[in-house]
Amino acid sequence: MNYFIFIDTQVYFSLFIIMSSIKVSPLSLSHLTNNKIIKKLGEGTDTCIYLCKCHDIHDDNLCQDLFVVKHMTTKNSRLLMYNEYNNAIVFNHKNIISILDIDIFNHKLIYENVVGIDLLDLCNANTNFCKYDITMLLNMFQQILRGVLHMHNQRIAHIDLKLENVLWCESLQLVKIIDFGHSHMYKDIHNRDRPIEAIKGTPNYFPPEYFIDKPYQFIPTQIDSWCVGIILYNIIYDHFPWIISDDLKTIDPMFFHHIDAMNYDNTLYDKIFHIYRFEKFTANDYILTRKLFKGLLHPNPHKRMTISKALDLVDLYSFLI
Ligand SMILES: Nc1ncnc2c1ncn2[C@@H]1O[C@H](COP(=O)(O)OP(=O)(O)O)[C@@H](O)[C@H]1O
Ligand SMILES: [Mg+2]
Repeated sequence: MNYFIFIDTQVYFSLFIIMSSIKVSPLSLSHLTNNKIIKKLGEGTDTCIYLCKCHDIHDDNLCQDLFVVKHMTTKNSRLLMYNEYNNAIVFNHKNIISILDIDIFNHKLIYENVVGIDLLDLCNANTNFCKYDITMLLNMFQQILRGVLHMHNQRIAHIDLKLENVLWCESLQLVKIIDFGHSHMYKDIHNRDRPIEAIKGTPNYFPPEYFIDKPYQFIPTQIDSWCVGIILYNIIYDHFPWIISDDLKTIDPMFFHHIDAMNYDNTLYDKIFHIYRFEKFTANDYILTRKLFKGLLHPNPHKRMTISKALDLVDLYSFLI
Protein backbone atom coordinates (compact mmCIF):
# COMPACT_ATOMS: atom_id res chain seq x y z
CA MET A 1 0.00 0.00 0.00
CA ASN A 2 2.71 2.38 1.04
CA TYR A 3 4.61 1.37 -2.06
CA PHE A 4 1.77 2.55 -4.30
CA ILE A 5 1.51 5.80 -2.46
CA PHE A 6 5.24 6.22 -3.02
CA ILE A 7 4.86 5.54 -6.79
CA ASP A 8 1.95 7.96 -7.00
CA THR A 9 3.84 10.68 -5.23
CA GLN A 10 6.84 10.09 -7.52
CA VAL A 11 4.69 10.28 -10.65
CA TYR A 12 2.94 13.44 -9.52
CA PHE A 13 6.23 15.00 -8.51
CA SER A 14 7.80 14.23 -11.92
CA LEU A 15 4.71 15.57 -13.68
CA PHE A 16 4.94 18.71 -11.60
CA ILE A 17 8.62 19.17 -12.55
CA ILE A 18 7.84 18.63 -16.27
CA MET A 19 4.84 21.01 -16.17
CA SER A 20 6.73 23.74 -14.38
CA SER A 21 9.61 23.55 -16.83
CA ILE A 22 7.25 24.07 -19.79
CA LYS A 23 6.62 27.69 -20.59
CA VAL A 24 2.87 27.64 -20.23
CA SER A 25 0.81 29.75 -22.56
CA PRO A 26 -2.86 29.77 -23.51
CA LEU A 27 -3.72 26.77 -25.63
CA SER A 28 -4.57 28.25 -29.00
CA LEU A 29 -4.03 31.98 -28.72
CA SER A 30 -0.34 32.59 -29.28
CA HIS A 31 -0.28 35.63 -27.07
CA LEU A 32 0.46 36.53 -23.47
CA THR A 33 3.47 34.24 -22.95
CA ASN A 34 5.13 37.51 -22.01
CA ASN A 35 2.68 40.06 -20.83
CA LYS A 36 2.37 43.13 -18.71
CA ILE A 37 -0.56 43.92 -16.44
CA ILE A 38 -1.77 47.36 -17.40
CA LYS A 39 -4.37 47.67 -14.65
CA LYS A 40 -6.81 45.77 -12.50
CA LEU A 41 -10.31 46.13 -13.94
CA GLY A 42 -12.24 44.53 -11.15
CA GLU A 43 -12.64 41.58 -8.88
CA GLY A 44 -15.25 39.08 -7.84
CA THR A 45 -15.29 36.90 -4.71
CA ASP A 46 -12.94 34.36 -6.27
CA THR A 47 -11.53 36.17 -9.28
CA CYS A 48 -9.34 39.06 -10.36
CA ILE A 49 -9.81 40.73 -13.73
CA TYR A 50 -6.85 42.46 -15.37
CA LEU A 51 -6.19 44.39 -18.55
CA CYS A 52 -3.01 42.85 -19.99
CA LYS A 53 -0.75 43.84 -22.85
CA CYS A 54 0.97 41.13 -24.88
CA HIS A 55 4.75 41.53 -25.11
CA ASP A 56 5.48 38.59 -27.41
CA ILE A 57 7.28 38.92 -30.71
CA HIS A 58 5.00 38.16 -33.66
CA ASP A 59 6.40 38.37 -37.22
CA ASP A 60 9.50 40.09 -35.83
CA ASN A 61 7.39 42.80 -34.24
CA LEU A 62 6.64 43.40 -30.61
CA CYS A 63 2.97 42.63 -30.05
CA GLN A 64 1.10 45.32 -28.14
CA ASP A 65 -2.39 43.76 -28.23
CA LEU A 66 -4.59 44.24 -25.19
CA PHE A 67 -6.62 41.46 -23.59
CA VAL A 68 -8.84 41.09 -20.56
CA VAL A 69 -7.65 38.26 -18.34
CA LYS A 70 -9.91 36.70 -15.71
CA HIS A 71 -7.80 34.94 -13.11
CA MET A 72 -9.56 32.30 -11.00
CA THR A 73 -7.98 32.59 -7.57
CA THR A 74 -9.75 29.80 -5.65
CA LYS A 75 -10.58 26.12 -6.10
CA ASN A 76 -14.28 26.99 -6.30
CA SER A 77 -13.84 29.46 -9.15
CA ARG A 78 -11.55 27.04 -11.00
CA LEU A 79 -14.42 24.55 -11.15
CA LEU A 80 -16.65 27.21 -12.71
CA MET A 81 -13.89 28.15 -15.18
CA TYR A 82 -14.59 25.20 -17.51
CA ASN A 83 -18.33 25.84 -17.47
CA GLU A 84 -17.71 29.51 -18.25
CA TYR A 85 -15.37 28.68 -21.14
CA ASN A 86 -17.51 25.90 -22.65
CA ASN A 87 -20.62 28.07 -22.75
CA ALA A 88 -18.99 31.41 -23.64
CA ILE A 89 -17.20 29.89 -26.65
CA VAL A 90 -20.62 29.19 -28.20
CA PHE A 91 -21.67 32.85 -28.27
CA ASN A 92 -21.10 35.20 -31.15
CA HIS A 93 -22.99 38.41 -30.52
CA LYS A 94 -22.03 42.06 -30.21
CA ASN A 95 -23.79 42.39 -26.84
CA ILE A 96 -21.85 39.49 -25.32
CA ILE A 97 -18.15 39.68 -24.52
CA SER A 98 -16.09 37.33 -26.75
CA ILE A 99 -13.98 34.73 -25.05
CA LEU A 100 -10.68 34.07 -26.84
CA ASP A 101 -8.95 31.36 -24.89
CA ILE A 102 -8.47 29.37 -21.73
CA ASP A 103 -5.17 28.91 -19.94
CA ILE A 104 -5.87 25.79 -17.91
CA PHE A 105 -2.45 25.69 -16.26
CA ASN A 106 -2.63 29.20 -14.87
CA HIS A 107 -6.40 29.19 -14.29
CA LYS A 108 -7.11 32.10 -16.60
CA LEU A 109 -9.74 32.97 -19.18
CA ILE A 110 -8.78 35.37 -21.94
CA TYR A 111 -11.40 37.80 -23.23
CA GLU A 112 -11.47 40.48 -25.89
CA ASN A 113 -10.53 43.90 -24.60
CA VAL A 114 -13.66 45.89 -23.92
CA VAL A 115 -13.30 49.30 -22.34
CA GLY A 116 -16.33 49.65 -20.16
CA ILE A 117 -17.78 50.18 -16.73
CA ASP A 118 -20.18 47.73 -15.13
CA LEU A 119 -23.71 48.99 -14.51
CA LEU A 120 -23.35 48.78 -10.72
CA ASP A 121 -20.34 51.11 -10.81
CA LEU A 122 -22.24 53.32 -13.22
CA CYS A 123 -25.20 53.36 -10.83
CA ASN A 124 -22.94 54.20 -7.87
CA ALA A 125 -21.11 56.96 -9.75
CA ASN A 126 -22.14 60.52 -8.92
CA THR A 127 -24.23 60.98 -11.98
CA ASN A 128 -25.71 57.42 -11.94
CA PHE A 129 -28.43 56.63 -14.46
CA CYS A 130 -30.04 60.07 -14.11
CA LYS A 131 -27.81 61.50 -16.79
CA TYR A 132 -29.46 59.28 -19.39
CA ASP A 133 -32.95 59.93 -20.68
CA ILE A 134 -35.54 57.16 -20.74
CA THR A 135 -35.00 56.46 -24.46
CA MET A 136 -31.29 55.90 -23.84
CA LEU A 137 -31.98 53.68 -20.82
CA LEU A 138 -34.44 51.60 -22.80
CA ASN A 139 -31.87 51.30 -25.58
CA MET A 140 -29.38 49.97 -23.01
CA PHE A 141 -32.02 47.53 -21.82
CA GLN A 142 -32.84 46.49 -25.39
CA GLN A 143 -29.17 45.57 -25.93
CA ILE A 144 -29.21 43.47 -22.75
CA LEU A 145 -32.30 41.64 -24.04
CA ARG A 146 -30.65 41.04 -27.43
CA GLY A 147 -27.60 39.49 -25.76
CA VAL A 148 -29.70 37.27 -23.49
CA LEU A 149 -31.93 36.19 -26.38
CA HIS A 150 -28.84 35.12 -28.31
CA MET A 151 -27.82 32.97 -25.34
CA HIS A 152 -31.28 31.43 -25.15
CA ASN A 153 -31.19 30.71 -28.87
CA GLN A 154 -28.04 28.67 -28.14
CA ARG A 155 -29.94 26.84 -25.36
CA ILE A 156 -27.88 28.52 -22.64
CA ALA A 157 -29.26 30.60 -19.78
CA HIS A 158 -27.00 33.07 -17.94
CA ILE A 159 -28.54 32.58 -14.45
CA ASP A 160 -26.51 35.38 -12.82
CA LEU A 161 -27.65 38.45 -14.73
CA LYS A 162 -27.13 41.54 -12.58
CA LEU A 163 -25.78 45.07 -12.82
CA GLU A 164 -22.20 43.92 -12.12
CA ASN A 165 -22.34 41.48 -15.02
CA VAL A 166 -23.29 44.02 -17.65
CA LEU A 167 -20.63 46.36 -19.06
CA TRP A 168 -21.44 49.72 -20.60
CA CYS A 169 -19.02 51.09 -23.20
CA GLU A 170 -19.86 54.77 -23.20
CA SER A 171 -17.85 55.69 -26.31
CA LEU A 172 -19.62 53.07 -28.42
CA GLN A 173 -22.94 53.24 -26.52
CA LEU A 174 -22.64 49.47 -26.39
CA VAL A 175 -23.69 46.86 -23.83
CA LYS A 176 -21.60 43.73 -23.26
CA ILE A 177 -22.82 40.90 -21.03
CA ILE A 178 -20.03 39.20 -19.05
CA ASP A 179 -19.46 36.41 -16.47
CA PHE A 180 -20.79 33.02 -17.55
CA GLY A 181 -19.59 31.11 -14.48
CA HIS A 182 -23.13 30.03 -13.54
CA SER A 183 -24.47 29.76 -17.09
CA HIS A 184 -26.44 26.62 -17.81
CA MET A 185 -27.01 24.61 -20.99
CA TYR A 186 -30.71 23.86 -20.52
CA LYS A 187 -31.23 21.27 -23.29
CA ASP A 188 -29.30 18.04 -23.66
CA ILE A 189 -28.17 16.60 -27.00
CA HIS A 190 -31.57 14.88 -27.41
CA ASN A 191 -33.26 18.27 -26.90
CA ARG A 192 -34.62 17.18 -23.52
CA ASP A 193 -34.97 19.81 -20.80
CA ARG A 194 -32.20 20.13 -18.25
CA PRO A 195 -33.82 22.12 -15.43
CA ILE A 196 -31.74 23.73 -12.70
CA GLU A 197 -31.82 21.77 -9.50
CA ALA A 198 -29.95 24.05 -7.13
CA ILE A 199 -30.24 27.69 -6.20
CA LYS A 200 -27.72 29.79 -8.12
CA GLY A 201 -27.23 33.51 -8.56
CA THR A 202 -27.30 36.58 -6.32
CA PRO A 203 -29.92 37.01 -3.55
CA ASN A 204 -31.31 40.41 -4.61
CA TYR A 205 -32.07 38.84 -7.97
CA PHE A 206 -33.59 35.59 -6.66
CA PRO A 207 -37.00 34.84 -8.21
CA PRO A 208 -39.96 33.78 -6.00
CA GLU A 209 -39.78 30.13 -7.12
CA TYR A 210 -36.44 29.84 -5.27
CA PHE A 211 -38.41 30.26 -2.06
CA ILE A 212 -41.30 27.95 -2.90
CA ASP A 213 -40.44 24.99 -5.13
CA LYS A 214 -39.08 21.91 -3.43
CA PRO A 215 -37.55 19.72 -4.74
CA TYR A 216 -36.03 22.33 -7.00
CA GLN A 217 -36.86 22.19 -10.72
CA PHE A 218 -36.39 25.70 -12.05
CA ILE A 219 -36.93 26.91 -15.62
CA PRO A 220 -33.55 28.47 -16.47
CA THR A 221 -34.77 30.98 -19.09
CA GLN A 222 -37.42 32.29 -16.70
CA ILE A 223 -34.78 32.95 -14.04
CA ASP A 224 -33.06 35.19 -16.60
CA SER A 225 -36.38 36.97 -17.28
CA TRP A 226 -36.79 37.77 -13.58
CA CYS A 227 -33.19 39.01 -13.33
CA VAL A 228 -33.53 41.38 -16.29
CA GLY A 229 -36.76 42.66 -14.67
CA ILE A 230 -34.71 43.56 -11.56
CA ILE A 231 -32.04 45.15 -13.77
CA LEU A 232 -34.73 47.25 -15.48
CA TYR A 233 -36.05 48.36 -12.09
CA ASN A 234 -32.53 49.42 -11.10
CA ILE A 235 -31.98 51.30 -14.32
CA ILE A 236 -35.25 53.19 -13.96
CA TYR A 237 -35.26 53.87 -10.21
CA ASP A 238 -31.53 53.71 -9.29
CA HIS A 239 -32.20 51.24 -6.48
CA PHE A 240 -33.41 47.69 -5.86
CA PRO A 241 -37.14 47.05 -5.51
CA TRP A 242 -36.35 44.94 -2.42
CA ILE A 243 -33.27 43.73 -0.56
CA ILE A 244 -32.62 40.06 0.25
CA SER A 245 -29.71 39.41 2.62
CA ASP A 246 -26.91 37.06 1.54
CA ASP A 247 -27.84 34.49 4.19
CA LEU A 248 -31.53 34.76 3.06
CA LYS A 249 -32.55 35.42 6.68
CA THR A 250 -33.76 38.96 6.02
CA ILE A 251 -36.11 39.48 3.14
CA ASP A 252 -37.63 42.89 2.51
CA PRO A 253 -41.45 42.68 3.06
CA MET A 254 -41.75 44.52 -0.26
CA PHE A 255 -40.76 41.26 -1.99
CA PHE A 256 -43.80 39.46 -0.56
CA HIS A 257 -46.01 42.52 -1.10
CA HIS A 258 -45.03 42.39 -4.74
CA ILE A 259 -45.93 38.71 -5.05
CA ASP A 260 -49.32 39.33 -3.37
CA ALA A 261 -49.94 42.49 -5.35
CA MET A 262 -49.40 40.68 -8.61
CA ASN A 263 -51.83 38.00 -7.57
CA TYR A 264 -54.54 39.96 -5.84
CA ASP A 265 -54.31 43.68 -5.41
CA ASN A 266 -53.49 45.99 -8.30
CA THR A 267 -53.50 49.11 -6.13
CA LEU A 268 -50.56 47.84 -4.14
CA TYR A 269 -48.89 46.85 -7.37
CA ASP A 270 -49.17 50.42 -8.63
CA LYS A 271 -47.57 51.68 -5.40
CA ILE A 272 -44.50 49.53 -5.96
CA PHE A 273 -44.12 50.59 -9.55
CA HIS A 274 -44.75 54.32 -9.23
CA ILE A 275 -43.61 54.97 -12.71
CA TYR A 276 -43.41 58.75 -12.91
CA ARG A 277 -39.70 58.77 -12.17
CA PHE A 278 -38.61 61.00 -14.99
CA GLU A 279 -39.97 64.37 -15.94
CA LYS A 280 -39.87 63.41 -19.58
CA PHE A 281 -41.76 60.15 -19.21
CA THR A 282 -44.27 60.00 -22.06
CA ALA A 283 -47.47 57.94 -22.10
CA ASN A 284 -45.68 55.40 -24.31
CA ASP A 285 -42.73 55.12 -21.89
CA TYR A 286 -45.21 54.56 -19.09
CA ILE A 287 -47.15 51.85 -20.92
CA LEU A 288 -44.00 50.01 -22.01
CA THR A 289 -42.19 50.01 -18.65
CA ARG A 290 -45.36 48.99 -16.85
CA LYS A 291 -45.89 46.07 -19.22
CA LEU A 292 -42.26 45.00 -18.85
CA PHE A 293 -42.32 45.11 -15.05
CA LYS A 294 -45.60 43.28 -14.90
CA GLY A 295 -44.44 40.61 -17.35
CA LEU A 296 -40.81 40.08 -16.35
CA LEU A 297 -41.44 40.24 -12.61
CA HIS A 298 -44.40 37.89 -12.68
CA PRO A 299 -44.14 35.61 -9.61
CA ASN A 300 -45.24 32.55 -11.58
CA PRO A 301 -42.36 31.41 -13.83
CA HIS A 302 -44.81 29.72 -16.20
CA LYS A 303 -46.68 32.99 -16.75
CA ARG A 304 -43.56 35.20 -16.67
CA MET A 305 -42.72 37.06 -19.88
CA THR A 306 -40.02 35.46 -22.02
CA ILE A 307 -36.96 37.44 -23.12
CA SER A 308 -38.15 37.16 -26.71
CA LYS A 309 -41.55 38.73 -25.88
CA ALA A 310 -39.89 41.52 -23.87
CA LEU A 311 -37.59 42.27 -26.80
CA ASP A 312 -40.56 42.39 -29.20
CA LEU A 313 -42.18 45.03 -26.98
CA VAL A 314 -39.04 47.14 -26.73
CA ASP A 315 -38.36 46.80 -30.48
CA LEU A 316 -41.89 48.00 -31.24
CA TYR A 317 -41.44 50.92 -28.85
CA SER A 318 -38.14 51.99 -30.45
CA PHE A 319 -39.77 51.70 -33.88
CA LEU A 320 -42.57 54.04 -32.81
CA ILE A 321 -40.42 56.83 -31.33
N1 LIG B 1 -13.73 44.06 -19.75
C1 LIG B 1 -13.94 44.63 -18.53
N2 LIG B 1 -13.83 45.96 -18.39
C2 LIG B 1 -14.04 46.55 -17.19
N3 LIG B 1 -14.37 45.87 -16.07
C3 LIG B 1 -14.49 44.54 -16.15
C4 LIG B 1 -14.28 43.83 -17.36
N4 LIG B 1 -14.49 42.51 -17.12
C5 LIG B 1 -14.80 42.42 -15.81
N5 LIG B 1 -14.80 43.62 -15.22
C6 LIG B 1 -15.07 43.93 -13.82
O1 LIG B 1 -14.73 42.80 -13.00
C7 LIG B 1 -15.88 42.38 -12.25
C8 LIG B 1 -15.82 40.88 -12.05
O2 LIG B 1 -15.81 40.22 -13.32
P1 LIG B 1 -16.68 38.90 -13.54
O3 LIG B 1 -16.32 38.29 -14.85
O4 LIG B 1 -18.11 39.23 -13.33
O5 LIG B 1 -16.12 37.98 -12.36
P2 LIG B 1 -16.90 37.13 -11.23
O6 LIG B 1 -17.20 35.82 -11.85
O7 LIG B 1 -15.93 37.03 -10.11
O8 LIG B 1 -18.13 37.90 -10.83
C9 LIG B 1 -17.07 42.86 -13.07
O9 LIG B 1 -18.22 43.03 -12.26
C10 LIG B 1 -16.56 44.20 -13.60
O10 LIG B 1 -16.66 45.20 -12.60
MG1 LIG C 1 -19.59 38.78 -11.97
